[in-house]
Amino acid sequence: MTLGIGTPAVGVTLEDISLSFETTEVLKGIDLTVEAGEFFTFLGPSGSGKSTLLRLIAGFGPMPLSGRVLIGNDDVTRLPPWKRNVGMVFQSYALWPHMTVRENVAFGLEERKLPAGEIRRRVDTTLNLVGLLDLAERRPSQLSGGQQQRVALARTIVIEPRVLLLDEPLSNLDANLRIQMRREILELQRKLMLTTIFVTHDQEEANTTSDRIAVLNDGVIQQVGSPIELYDRPVNRFVADFLGSANLIDGVIENADGRTLFRASGDIAIPLHGRDTAAAGGVVTAMFRPQSLSIRDAGDPAVEGAMPLSGRVEHREFLGSLVRYTVMVGGHALLVEDSHQAGHRAYDTGEEVALYLDTEQVRLLTS
Ligand SMILES: Nc1ncnc2c1ncn2[C@@H]1O[C@H](COP(=O)(O)OP(=O)(O)O)[C@@H](O)[C@H]1O
Ligand SMILES: [Mg+2]
Repeated sequence: MTLGIGTPAVGVTLEDISLSFETTEVLKGIDLTVEAGEFFTFLGPSGSGKSTLLRLIAGFGPMPLSGRVLIGNDDVTRLPPWKRNVGMVFQSYALWPHMTVRENVAFGLEERKLPAGEIRRRVDTTLNLVGLLDLAERRPSQLSGGQQQRVALARTIVIEPRVLLLDEPLSNLDANLRIQMRREILELQRKLMLTTIFVTHDQEEANTTSDRIAVLNDGVIQQVGSPIELYDRPVNRFVADFLGSANLIDGVIENADGRTLFRASGDIAIPLHGRDTAAAGGVVTAMFRPQSLSIRDAGDPAVEGAMPLSGRVEHREFLGSLVRYTVMVGGHALLVEDSHQAGHRAYDTGEEVALYLDTEQVRLLTS
């Protein structure tokens, strides 16, 4: 679906982009392809370079020191923002306070000197799309935060940009509204088949919306993949830790009696089932998720097929659907998540417990 004069979705390609502010290198050799029609997210901590990268696609800010930006097949690296036909929504949506909703949304089309009838038709279609037609004559001060956010979106998509860029657009909204708005943005993106690049530091926001995510740290793309790929197969400690919580234990790989083991301090020895043994003798990190450990009473029967560990509960957090424990095992603080049901006993701080690790879920990382 398009608003009427739409062009087919196009992708975005970034080729070897590096950028410095004075002596600080903030983007380092970025190579990336966003597919046409994709909901793509730049995810990373504050200062990792997400906004700088997004602004560079829009054409704001300094030109890349090196590299190219392509929208579809067009090299736009040297084009000013108004010739790129991209739409950008910022964290502060800066609506015109003296204009009505309709006037705010029409503004960009009037600047482009479209005929009045065409403007009216496109504004109506867009307002209808974001559920604001009934509020068209209000001013921004008469709207809730979520409604203002919808006006900002409407104002951007009414232009029919080739690419929609969203820089932390939900961060001014309260928690419930953020969840509702991220769904609405995704529905809108799907309806319009609009190539969208979304910037956030919030992993849940990224996971719930994105077809694919690029994880950024310190101006470098760490990994690109679907939310599940990144969670299940992180390539390094940073990605493992940034997407959900992870247990990370440093150790070495040993071959003994035809078996391959991961060995770490505190008598931890995890059998590796003949998985990639090329790294034998090397220093590695074993990574596993908190839900790959089960927690039981110290005297209970063993969990079939899982590796037993014993420890002491150091800390407990009750989160409703689950209880998260920190359990000390051989000097390692391990995170354990146990799903919760009414009547289910939670373990106390200081209690001795048995843990069972599903060793199939252990992943070895080398960086
Ligand atoms: N105009 C600028 N001048 C100097 N440094 C900047 C400028 N804009 C951003 N930076 C620096 O670039 C880095 C990346 O910033 P930014 O892209 O805003 O990160 P993010 O959006 O991931 O929080 C930060 O260290 C920031 O301080
Ligand atoms: Mg930013």
